Amino acid sequence: MTNATGIGLIGLGTVGSAVARRLLDDWELLGGRAGSIPVLRRVAVADPTRGRDVALPRVHLDGDADALVDDETVAVVVEVMGGVDRASALIERALRAGKPVVTANKAALAAHGLELSRLAVECGVSLRYEAAVGAGLPVVALLRDSLRGDRVTALEMIINSTTNVILTRMGRDGVDFAAALRDAQERGFAEADPSADVDGHDAAAKLVLLSRLAFDAPVALDDVTRVGIRGVVAEDVAAATQLGGAIKLVAAAQGEAGVLTLSVGPALVRPGHPLFGVDDADNAVLITSDLAGPIRLSGAGAGGESTASAVLSDIVATVRDPAAPPPVPGASVTTGDSADVERGGYLRLRLQPIPEATELVLQALEDRGIPVRASASLDEGGTGAHLALLTGSVSRAMRERAAETLDSLAAVAEVVAVMDWLEPA
Ligand SMILES: NC(=O)c1ccc[n+]([C@@H]2O[C@H](COP(=O)([O-])OP(=O)(O)OC[C@H]3O[C@@H](n4cnc5c(N)ncnc54)[C@H](OP(=O)(O)O)[C@@H]3O)[C@@H](O)[C@H]2O)c1
Repeated sequence: MTNATGIGLIGLGTVGSAVARRLLDDWELLGGRAGSIPVLRRVAVADPTRGRDVALPRVHLDGDADALVDDETVAVVVEVMGGVDRASALIERALRAGKPVVTANKAALAAHGLELSRLAVECGVSLRYEAAVGAGLPVVALLRDSLRGDRVTALEMIINSTTNVILTRMGRDGVDFAAALRDAQERGFAEADPSADVDGHDAAAKLVLLSRLAFDAPVALDDVTRVGIRGVVAEDVAAATQLGGAIKLVAAAQGEAGVLTLSVGPALVRPGHPLFGVDDADNAVLITSDLAGPIRLSGAGAGGESTASAVLSDIVATVRDPAAPPPVPGASVTTGDSADVERGGYLRLRLQPIPEATELVLQALEDRGIPVRASASLDEGGTGAHLALLTGSVSRAMRERAAETLDSLAAVAEVVAVMDWLEPA
């Protein structure tokens, strides 16, 4: 094979280095699959004076990403630098120059992906972003290509590795959030400023990207009701363990009758649910559709090599078909109120020291038509007896009202925690 396609790589960090290595070492394999050899011509980084642990023979490296985009030897632009505004501007510049783009950047796409996709269509070039969600898990391709004849009704996923590492450690070792976060930072799983992960922004961005594909819906970050994991305390993690489950940060989309509801928040998951047992840095995505039924994808959700796998598959697809237009969501959907979504509930209550307190709580829930599926008594030492409950599915609003009623019961000192429980189907 003699024909070649020039690749320009913006970013040579965790992901970019793994992409560069495979492009340089396995060009024959990639060329065979792409029909033209993807040749790394140029790399842009923030600091070109820094030493690199990947050798780049015959590759021009500097700090000028605009010049990389404009370089006539670069036919495909690969953006793996991260950030929102600068990265989006570079993607836009490439598309306007008629160059297809591959990106791993969920933050830029959640903010500007709709305009960028429209622009790619206008300019007649492709915009691919498999690596932006779930690293190497082929979830974008599944929704974009494989389920085109289906109607997706729900997405449920554990899609942020940092929070999963933190929550798994809290569950296994009984440490609190602060200690688990410090440990994740020391092991390279959390940034020095962890807010994008622990406050749920990263999961929300991924949920938005997948929901646009799954529901053809032009949703934005503002459409997501978002709660992070800073408020998850060791007592709830221990209660979840006692109930046989674990607390996870779950991103969920539910689309019914033209109403789409998006939420990110901590939820208790027990055996029997397809998201149970997804621990540490793993991710899992559960897609429910009317014809294919539930499909579950799981695997490593982060890391240079796993993410590079997705970037490289996009590079191969782009070299093969640089003009394939990205999907542009056009359906008219109404975004619903997440309080109306029906979910199982987890409640933890601190009881007054009276003998029949548990029975009074269970009776109060039954009176409100809220079924109780499981309960566990917990002795919290100094703070007295606690009761953890799992309720059947009712709307979150109804659950909140029930929690208020419980709070006012003489048998209850305080409703300490309320969150979703993913009741197995
Ligand atoms: N890491 C993962 O597991 C993972 C998984 C899925 C998706 N992603 C996404 O992949 C992207 C890259 O992530 P990463 O972990 O590889 O990041 P990273 O390790 O921080 O690397 C970022 C790279 O971009 C370069 N850069 C920053 N600003 C630049 C600019 N203005 N012009 C040119 N280059 C610039 C940096 O240059 P210097 O080297 O000189 O600092 C660095 O090489 C992000 O969008 C991220 O969300 C990452």
